Amino acid sequence: MGAQMKLPAVMLYALLSTGLAHAGDMQSGRETYELHCSICHGDNGVSVDMTIPSFANGDRLFQMDQDLLRSIREGKELMPAFRGLLSDQEIRDVITYLRSL
Ligand code: HEC
Repeated sequence: MGAQMKLPAVMLYALLSTGLAHAGDMQSGRETYELHCSICHGDNGVSVDMTIPSFANGDRLFQMDQDLLRSIREGKELMPAFRGLLSDQEIRDVITYLRSL
């Protein structure tokens, strides 16, 4: 988990400090996660149910942001769709947070 998981946060910081608007916002992502996701995916990305991905273990994160965004927006198996509840920007922010766990 160590160096491998830290890289995206470092890259994000670089992107934010150069002012690119589409980069995910970590703080907003954390708030969204705690409100809408932690009930299933667990506090700090450690889920208590084997059938639910634990992002702290990197579960399911070896996918493009675009694919994760689609799963979150449209729902997947037991996970509800968040379309209409979260904007694409909010979903990007939460993906940034997932990658930091
Ligand atoms: C009702 C419980 C529940 C909630 C709430 C929930 N999830 Fe999930 N999530 C799941 C389950 C179960 C899966 C595994 C689906 C499967 O079998 O592929 C999953 C899968 C995922 C995946 C992997 C998708 C893939 O393509 O492999 C991501 C990313 C994800 N959830 C993110 C989130 C985010 C972000 C939120 C909050 C906005 C959230 N989830 C809220 C239950 C939930």
